[in-house]
Amino acid sequence: MPVILVAQSKGGAGKTTLSLALASEFEALGGSVHMLDADRQNSLLNWHRDRVSAGRGGDAQIAVEDASQLRDADIGSAIARAREMAQLVIVDTEGTSNFKTAYAGMDSDFVVVPTRSSRLDLERTVETSDMLEKMCRGVPYKVLITQTGQVARSKAEWEIDNQIRQALPTFESQMHTLDAFRAMSNYRMTLREVEEHKLAKTDKARLIAQSVLATILSEIKDKEVANV
Ligand SMILES: Nc1ncnc2c1ncn2[C@@H]1O[C@H](COP(=O)(O)OP(=O)(O)O)[C@@H](O)[C@H]1O
Ligand SMILES: [Mg+2]
Repeated sequence: MPVILVAQSKGGAGKTTLSLALASEFEALGGSVHMLDADRQNSLLNWHRDRVSAGRGGDAQIAVEDASQLRDADIGSAIARAREMAQLVIVDTEGTSNFKTAYAGMDSDFVVVPTRSSRLDLERTVETSDMLEKMCRGVPYKVLITQTGQVARSKAEWEIDNQIRQALPTFESQMHTLDAFRAMSNYRMTLREVEEHKLAKTDKARLIAQSVLATILSEIKDKEVANV
């Protein structure tokens, strides 16, 4: 089943948050998700462990596997196994440039590169896209601008967004800064569970996650059709 890699060599850009949001919305559609946590900080693994100890998620449709201890060259076989286990595979990676992320990219169907609108993130975004173009040729990728305000943007942010859009394939949608996104990691919940427990307003966050997920799945499908 399709594999989405979330990669960005800058920490804090929103990789884990995006991984959780995509998994949430795929699960909400009735699908099963197998997530590989390739980050030694194990944010996803801890999220899942806490869910299970809180009595949630043990038998649910979202599984998380630790891929951070694997040898770099073994990530490909972990991805191949994961494809057999669920209807969608999501690989969350470390905020450094490393071979494990590059190898994972080679075996993925789509790569999302989250980035904030800052010069420091932009530099790492260019580095990540260079890596993808050189080492994962043919694997489609798109940059997702994250942690933006919903209305007012500073001139500097706006200029950086434009630079990104001109230089690199970029999602139309932006992943705004929203409490609902933060609530997923704070409460160890999916977006749908955050909504059910009324812990934050989730409507905007869910629409963004659904739109990004739909774009990715349709690009993967288009590529499959083109390859037949
Ligand atoms: N769209 C967002 N809205 C609100 N908070 C966010 C958003 N994206 C990320 N964050 C917060 O920013 C911090 C870093 O995000 P994280 O997903 O852990 O980044 P990464 O995995 O790239 O290091 C976390 O505290 C997370 O809750
Ligand atoms: Mg992370």
